[in-house]
Amino acid sequence: MTDVMHPPLSMPPFEHIPRPYQGPSREEVLALRRQHVNPAVFTLYHDPLMIVEGRMQYVFDETGRRYLDLFAGIATVSCGHCHPEVVRRVQEQTATLQHSSTIYLHPNLSLMARKLAEKMPLGMDVTYFVNSGSEANDLAITMARLFTGNVDVIALRNAYHGGSPSSLALTSHHTWKYPVPAQPGVHHALCPDPALSRFTGAAEEIASESAADIRDLIRYSTPGKIAAFIAEPIQGVGGVTRGAPNYFREAYAVAREHGGLCIADEVQTGFGRTGENYWGFQNYGVTPDIVTTAKGIGNGVPLAAVTTRREVAEALTSRIHFNTFGGNPVSMAAGLAVLEVIDRDGLQENARKVGARLVRGLRRLQERHPLVGEVRGLGLMLGLELVSDQATRTPATAQTLEVLEAARELGVLMGKGGLDGNVLRIKPPLCITAEDADFAVDVLDRVLARVGGETTA
Ligand SMILES: Cc1ncc(COP(=O)(O)O)c(C=O)c1O
Repeated sequence: MTDVMHPPLSMPPFEHIPRPYQGPSREEVLALRRQHVNPAVFTLYHDPLMIVEGRMQYVFDETGRRYLDLFAGIATVSCGHCHPEVVRRVQEQTATLQHSSTIYLHPNLSLMARKLAEKMPLGMDVTYFVNSGSEANDLAITMARLFTGNVDVIALRNAYHGGSPSSLALTSHHTWKYPVPAQPGVHHALCPDPALSRFTGAAEEIASESAADIRDLIRYSTPGKIAAFIAEPIQGVGGVTRGAPNYFREAYAVAREHGGLCIADEVQTGFGRTGENYWGFQNYGVTPDIVTTAKGIGNGVPLAAVTTRREVAEALTSRIHFNTFGGNPVSMAAGLAVLEVIDRDGLQENARKVGARLVRGLRRLQERHPLVGEVRGLGLMLGLELVSDQATRTPATAQTLEVLEAARELGVLMGKGGLDGNVLRIKPPLCITAEDADFAVDVLDRVLARVGGETTA
């Protein structure tokens, strides 16, 4: 669909020609999915999009139409879709040895563990590899409990840490929680983001009050000792929310005062996505005790990790612990390639530069469109909050869906998040260009005008 009043916006040129798609039709795929796939597996768009090929920051549907991918398989495709170096290394390893398990030695596991240690703060040099972010957080909590001898865990309201039974207990959105008993011992502290807080004042004050409230939570709801404090440096699913930079420092101090380890969930914020820093927590000058990673570490290969100090890791040796696919030679090959490509291609710096350009563009949109509430995030971990009333900041939930759909029509894919589903999530592959960023802003400009009912764009 093109806008009658305005010429089509043209996407930056790109050389790749997708292969002719020869698989089952989109209708057939949809019908089979409806018949045989658990209906809890949902699609984003009203008219589901089928993606059959990807190249760097772009994906292609079955007709060969190209889209600018600003969601990256949910903040997962870090280097770019089918990045040639990642593909080459995965193909080579797949053809050589697909699986052996960690009961035998394989160089890739040792090399990847060392490579990750080189990226971590000093002393955080021991890793357990698993397959998903949920598993990583489960294991991190288990380690913290074993190491400290305490049970209680503090997570944040508006957090998302996964969908497995114990990571779901950490997650804090009624929309994700089934009415079945959650793992006990998890308490949710106040989210320090000013937009979500009942505290008033400057963002730093709200952050301090929120951190101080953790002390009350511990005193009232736990035996006075905790196993861990876990938080995302920037809440992703929660709609790109975070407190002022003093929050993590103060919250970590309270947690440690009460015997807790500090766990940074870097599943979305890690590997250069926030631009200025390789890890999200570095933006706040803190050092966690455990770091969990997933998504971007594998560029699409199921790979996740729990990295910590040796003394903490050793807590897991009191019983047998095993994970069939964790440390698999193919996923390790992918991880090694990803970490090398992020450095070689300068992707962290690109996230910083292109992210800043995007933010400038989004702020211009904020000035022009009453629908835009807040521009959030760092680097290429960005969010655009949409509100139907600037004064009351009423979530524009329905309009967010409309914007998402209309942007897709114009060739731009984004995500949505926030408890009320009113935040557009922009987390593209880190290889996105300045021209892509400008195109995305132009598309959003047009779409926001259309959805917001404005006459000019
Ligand atoms: C911050 C964060 N932690 C953990 C997870 C869970 O990861 P997975 O879906 O790989 O289990 C997610 C997934 O979106 C996430 O965003």
